[in-house]
Amino acid sequence: MSARAWLGLAVIAGAGVALVAVFRTPPSGAAPAEDGAAACGACHAEAHGEWQSSWHSRAWSDPEVRARSNDFANAECLPCHLPEPVLALAPGDPVRARAERGDEGVDCRACHALGGADAGRVAGTAEHADAPCRPKAVAELGGAAVCGPCHNQHQTVTEWLVSPYAAEGVDCVDCHMPFRGGDPARGRDHTMHGGHSLALLQAAVDLRARRAAAGVVIEVENVGAGHNFPTDERLRAADVFWRPLVPEGTPGSWRFLYRFRSPYRDEPIEETVLPARAMQTIPLADPDAAEAVEVALFYKLTPYWADPEHPDPERESMLVERVELGRFPPR
Ligand code: HEC
Ligand code: HEC
Ligand code: HEC
Ligand code: HEC
Ligand code: HEC
Repeated sequence: MSARAWLGLAVIAGAGVALVAVFRTPPSGAAPAEDGAAACGACHAEAHGEWQSSWHSRAWSDPEVRARSNDFANAECLPCHLPEPVLALAPGDPVRARAERGDEGVDCRACHALGGADAGRVAGTAEHADAPCRPKAVAELGGAAVCGPCHNQHQTVTEWLVSPYAAEGVDCVDCHMPFRGGDPARGRDHTMHGGHSLALLQAAVDLRARRAAAGVVIEVENVGAGHNFPTDERLRAADVFWRPLVPEGTPGSWRFLYRFRSPYRDEPIEETVLPARAMQTIPLADPDAAEAVEVALFYKLTPYWADPEHPDPERESMLVERVELGRFPPR
């Protein structure tokens, strides 16, 4: 991964730290850990604060999910959005829905609670004999095995497995759960940013433009995502727009050029995602591009435009990156 991408991720980690409370030492003789996230949070305030600001804690209350699952009248949608612990599943078994604490979505137990002979214990990075939650060192916790039961429905784990990052040993948590303040002794940040985070999107891609014989050539490179860009949720879309800057720096309106996206179910569109470390070259042959031009990459959480004939990316998308090219030939 480029130095810039790591920097982007470190900045996100730093921003999270400022918002959270300090770690509180548990009182001696504390009661056994209860099920709820708040109970865990009484002793793990930092992880709890980060988790609360994450989309995992909102997986069941998220209005976007509510709307698309018909308020979970579609019970197929419950398992990953209101899950039982994934480490308690037999290998290969699908995630199961739990019946309680909906407002906690993907809760602490979903990733940490163990089952079988270890029921009542939590998966951790080390054993702590006197801790009330009885942590057990579980190697799988830091790997794709924890994320996979929910995040491979759309092949994100598979995309990562065939990427150079898997071979290099750069795992999901290395990018999505950086060490707090960059310090391994402080544990990992639970904010787990994704497509909702502009900083993470900016760490994912590089946008470049140059003049060539046939006009303008635009390049988009996946420099920081350990899987396709975009990935997972099929509604995500990344769009390249351009506009002439005429006269002299006054922009015209945005013109659509290219979309990166994966089709949802049988949607009749082409698969145009950008795999890890891949680059897409996009020619722009329009005569208006001889003027000074601005090129931009926008990201949309859902792919539809209010008016498909006249998409308005500034209002309906997030601006990720932009570049300008001078007039050709220069005046
Ligand atoms: C196998 C697990 C699984 C099942 C089953 C599942 N989801 Fe999801 N869902 C996820 C994961 C993981 C994400 C996060 C993906 C991402 O951010 O790209 C997600 C994200 C979403 C989002 C995007 C949320 C946002 O804030 O943009 C919507 C909407 C959604 N799911 C709706 C549904 C609906 C509707 C169903 C049932 C038809 C469903 N999900 C079933 C795992 C699942
Ligand atoms: C009464 C206090 C208390 C409660 C409640 C509690 N824990 Fe802990 N937990 C501890 C202590 C003490 C440790 C030992 C390491 C430390 O100080 O961080 C620990 C360790 C851990 C670890 C392992 C840390 C490592 O080194 O990898 C995990 C994971 C963990 N707890 C998760 C949870 C979860 C999930 C819950 C709720 C189901 C929970 N804990 C409830 C006090 C508590
Ligand atoms: C989406 C999965 C997920 C959720 C939800 C989650 N954790 Fe974690 N947690 C992890 C992973 C992965 C690690 C780090 C493993 C590693 O370092 O190898 C971790 C590490 C920890 C640790 C060890 C110290 C540290 O911070 O790295 C504690 C304590 C902990 N989590 C507590 C909690 C609590 C409390 C909650 C709920 C408020 C929670 N976790 C929710 C996945 C999760
Ligand atoms: C039990 C199911 C489950 C597990 C396990 C799980 N996730 Fe998620 N994750 C979800 C769901 C559901 C969402 C979508 C929440 C929403 O937006 O409504 C999500 C969202 C995300 C997002 C997107 C956040 C955003 O900005 O939209 C990221 C990144 C993410 N998860 C990373 C991870 C990583 C890394 C792991 C493993 C350490 C993991 N998840 C484990 C279910 C899970
Ligand atoms: C090299 C760093 C890196 C690795 C490794 C990595 N990711 Fe990501 N991930 C990113 C970046 C950057 C983004 C934002 C761009 C994007 O959506 O592709 C992202 C986005 C996501 C999203 C959000 C997609 C959305 O729709 O909001 C999910 C979910 C996710 N990653 C899950 C995973 C899982 C699961 C793994 C491990 C199998 C993993 N990531 C490995 C860097 C990484």
